[in-house]
Amino acid sequence: MALKDTIQSLMTQVEGLKATNAEEVEAMRIKYLSKKGEITALFNEFRSVPAEEKRELGQLLNHLRQTAETRINDLREQISDQMVNVQKENDLTRTPDPIVLGTRHPLSLVREEIEEIFSRIGFTIAQGPEVEDDKHVYGMLNFAPEHPARDMQDTFFIEKEAGVQKPTDVLLRSHTSSVQTRVMTSQKPPIRVLCPGRVYRNEAISARAHCFFHQVEGLYIDKNVSFADLREALLYFSKEMFGPETKIRLRPSYFPFTEPSAEMDISCNICGGTGCSFCKGTGWVEILGCGMVDPNVLEACGIDSKEYSGYAFGMGVERITNLKYRVKDLRLFSENDVRFLKQFESC
Ligand code: DAH
Repeated sequence: MALKDTIQSLMTQVEGLKATNAEEVEAMRIKYLSKKGEITALFNEFRSVPAEEKRELGQLLNHLRQTAETRINDLREQISDQMVNVQKENDLTRTPDPIVLGTRHPLSLVREEIEEIFSRIGFTIAQGPEVEDDKHVYGMLNFAPEHPARDMQDTFFIEKEAGVQKPTDVLLRSHTSSVQTRVMTSQKPPIRVLCPGRVYRNEAISARAHCFFHQVEGLYIDKNVSFADLREALLYFSKEMFGPETKIRLRPSYFPFTEPSAEMDISCNICGGTGCSFCKGTGWVEILGCGMVDPNVLEACGIDSKEYSGYAFGMGVERITNLKYRVKDLRLFSENDVRFLKQFESC
């Protein structure tokens, strides 16, 4: 066979080479590329080719050798990769694949910042159950049965027997104020606690509302606690949280468990108080409810309301997080999308 035809036929063979183990690959290398290999033999033959054919055949021959070398090396790598995988699977002592570290959730970051600020002025953390009873969530907090104030919070009640809808006093707490009653009935004043936790309300889920969210409640009970103390503590918190320029304003409001009650706004930290779409042009944004603990609540919890007075406040962690990080859609907090969560890596 002419040299050119031999080169072409070897080329077809080489291109179709397949192997299932390292021995087969080595046999191929010997067959084609070793000193006595078929391709090496062609180089010997090449020496006696007439000068005018040398150029073309030389190129073809070099191309053949390169193709064979590449193909055999590729096969060798493939097989060694397969071997490594098999070994890995069989080796029960191997270190697992590296763990991808997650990031702190923005709500945790903000909750911890709130806790940290209040801890500097003497507050400690208290917690209570999420599945609560009517007494701790409403009754002891001065919500009379059937009182319309209960409609402010659309509560999830829990059936005691599956499928049987009897009147029930087991419910998912709709606010962290229930922890106040638990602390006041189990501790003696002075009391200075911060109660962070998850709360539940029967709301249609949208960008602005969810069926669960997070609150931080504050409670301070001692002799001679005044509204001025409440204002001072909240001003301190607001400046620490949103910056020293922050102003606060208290507007009269109503909560059954405080008297007097107020809602607190901070000067909008987005426009600096000049008015923007976030504060609806008012320059103020509401962040919490507060007031002086109603004497009825103190008495219901066994604290003498003639000797002691106190203040309380409650804020939504999602709201504070929105103000700090401008998260426009509340649902992002519970969707577990790592692309969202990763953005808080450096916070
Ligand atoms: N519990 C109220 C709510 O969920 C918030 C609140 C208002 C808590 C005033 C308080 C308070 O402790 O004093 O809407």
